[in-house]
Amino acid sequence: MLPGIRIIATGGCLPEKVVTNDDLSKIVDTSDEWITKRTGIHERRRCVTETHLDLAAAAARQALERAGIDRAQLGVCLVTTVAGDTITPSTACMLQKVLDLPEDAACFDLNAACAGFPYGLRVTEGLLTEDRPYGLIVSCEVLTRLTDYTDRSTCVLFGDGAGAVVVQQSPDAPEICAVLGSRGDNQALYIDGAPGAGAPYIHMQGQPVFRFAVDAMPRCSLAVLEKAGVTMDRVDWVVMHQANERIIDHVIRKMELPPEKVYKNIARYGNMSSACIPVALNELYEAGRLRSGMKVLCVGFGGGLTWGGCLIEIGGIS
Ligand code: COA
Repeated sequence: MLPGIRIIATGGCLPEKVVTNDDLSKIVDTSDEWITKRTGIHERRRCVTETHLDLAAAAARQALERAGIDRAQLGVCLVTTVAGDTITPSTACMLQKVLDLPEDAACFDLNAACAGFPYGLRVTEGLLTEDRPYGLIVSCEVLTRLTDYTDRSTCVLFGDGAGAVVVQQSPDAPEICAVLGSRGDNQALYIDGAPGAGAPYIHMQGQPVFRFAVDAMPRCSLAVLEKAGVTMDRVDWVVMHQANERIIDHVIRKMELPPEKVYKNIARYGNMSSACIPVALNELYEAGRLRSGMKVLCVGFGGGLTWGGCLIEIGGIS
């Protein structure tokens, strides 16, 4: 059996600027009532002065300081994102510079859209070695750069933020039993990229994405539990991608999950793509609700279309 990984520290960073539903109702034809009822979102954050690298570095610094590790033993610095400051260098390479990480650590960005964090955990698990047992995973998104503020059907949903974790490979850590997948679809949810293809905005057909989410997340979660040979009663937290509170509640009902095990923060941040899950983990840590030995089911879905889930243990946090 391959050695698994545990999360030994978390970090986070959110831009200062808060954008409320009422703020958005001044620029598009919407209302606090519509947004709250259809999505559960009350406010989100927006970068004004902060860059993508600023957010990523602040979240990473906090996680590294809390982990208290020797950075020379870091084997991987992986950033999950769809929205870096530059296509190249990657944000991960710039983190190597600003955090003074070892030059022989693998530094790269990974784009699996909103499912990026479970993808990032699995890739890191595969890359760590006995002599380089630590990995840094930072999920950082500045989606407001890619948001069309004339399109009310998307601009109310997205926000900016970063979450980070330090993981440690250990022979006694269980494999994370990740389940990752994709179904190529360039219509339901996409962001233009190629030069000349138009403004790089998020385009989305809400209802097909909703239907995909309420099918993919339970399917992926059950596959992870089956692979791990673990039943829900042994899971301490379920942290889902925060795209719409109605999607999360749908999954709770479909899987008959105990609601008190399902963490939600969508009301305060909206959809921060791959950053949602680690920002939630960091909030759990800061509230003293994440302890060593706990098992967390992380599950996300997003553009691609992608899905990803894993069961990861917490270690080194008392
Ligand atoms: N304010 C007011 N009205 C709005 C609005 C807004 N911000 N956005 C859309 N509407 C209107 C529509 O124009 C439509 O009007 P009409 O009936 O006159 O045509 C009406 O509200 C209903 O639109 P619809 O798209 O059917 O709403 P919905 O209940 O499906 O909710 C989403 C829209 C986007 C909130 C929902 O589909 C959703 O969350 N989908 C999944 C999105 C997702 O997860 N994305 C991230 C993937 S990582």
